[in-house]
Amino acid sequence: MNRTSVLAGTGSAVPGQVVTNHMLAERMDTSDQWIRSRTGIAERRVVEPGTATSDLAVEAGRRALRSAGVDRVDAVVVGTATPDHQCPATGPIVAAGLDLGTIPAFDVGAVCSGFLYALATGSGLIAAGHAERVLVVGAEAFTTIIDPTDRATAPLFGDGAGAVVLRAGDREEPGALLGLHLGSDGLLADLIIVPAGGSRQRSLGVEAPREDHYFTMRGQEVFKHAVRRMEESAREVLGQVGWGLAEVDWLVGHQANLRILHAVADQLRLPRERAFANLERYGNTSAASIPLALDEAAATGRLRAGQRVVLTAFGAGATWGAAALTWPDLGRNGAAPPAPARI
Ligand code: COA
Repeated sequence: MNRTSVLAGTGSAVPGQVVTNHMLAERMDTSDQWIRSRTGIAERRVVEPGTATSDLAVEAGRRALRSAGVDRVDAVVVGTATPDHQCPATGPIVAAGLDLGTIPAFDVGAVCSGFLYALATGSGLIAAGHAERVLVVGAEAFTTIIDPTDRATAPLFGDGAGAVVLRAGDREEPGALLGLHLGSDGLLADLIIVPAGGSRQRSLGVEAPREDHYFTMRGQEVFKHAVRRMEESAREVLGQVGWGLAEVDWLVGHQANLRILHAVADQLRLPRERAFANLERYGNTSAASIPLALDEAAATGRLRAGQRVVLTAFGAGATWGAAALTWPDLGRNGAAPPAPARI
């Protein structure tokens, strides 16, 4: 059987509030020069108090549906590590916000690999015949779990959402999802962690100290694991689809750090110019980063119909993954590219 998932539309949304490196340097011991040189980030978008992940996800989803020319899907899968609430999941809130009726809607938690895990889940629903069309969203109000006074993490992260519509199609069509690889290593769970707020600390009956409610990370170790796993995963999907590296038009990696993206490209012996980067303006938006990058790359004409694209990510868990697809013709026909929606 040749049934596969085909990417049929993209959309994205970011908060209107911009926080530059210079603004951060006014409130903590850091500098624009340090942040740019170590990460490639110049500014990030930050939600106002009261704006939640689903607000961004609904807007990105609306744009993806419009881009796909549909107003109905059979399921919604949301990759997020910053759900609106501990309970319930954000997926049903997003489905309701888009007026999609009583379809299945749920979250997938794989932090910065969340979009690839959600993509795998959505394409699995299609492969199994449970759905003809699925809205796959990566969305985060990630700054809500970042200590705004912590220079080790606050410069790195931002908020945003990206979404794609998958539809059942054929492997030969532009847009076909051709290869997929996922991995995890729970022995590395404490490498990147928000210690409090889940069942572990609650069940101990211990009141968590303030800092335990915030994101912590052993940055240098994460850097090494990220480069290794993203490279391995990319090679795995290239092997699945039988593409040589010279045939890859774009590597769209998780936008955590420009040095990581360049290191992965170098390891793969891929020219750095083929590693798409927009983290300069958004920072690391976790599960949102790949679909936000895809929407921007398509809207600005860098991703063109028929091009061969490899996606790869690494995140807390640890989790990682990669996907290989050809880029679809999204029918923009040279029309002015839409900027991401601003919330
Ligand atoms: N501003 C200024 N100085 C800072 C700083 C900041 N925001 N953060 C740390 N420093 C200092 C450190 O204290 C250290 O000082 P010292 O040499 O006097 O001890 C120095 O800068 C170097 O710190 P280090 O942690 O070695 O920097 P680095 O080059 O490893 O960069 C990260 C730090 C976090 C940017 C980098 O490790 C990284 O990107 N890791 C991966 C993070 C990631 O991608 N996470 C998400 C994956 S899903």
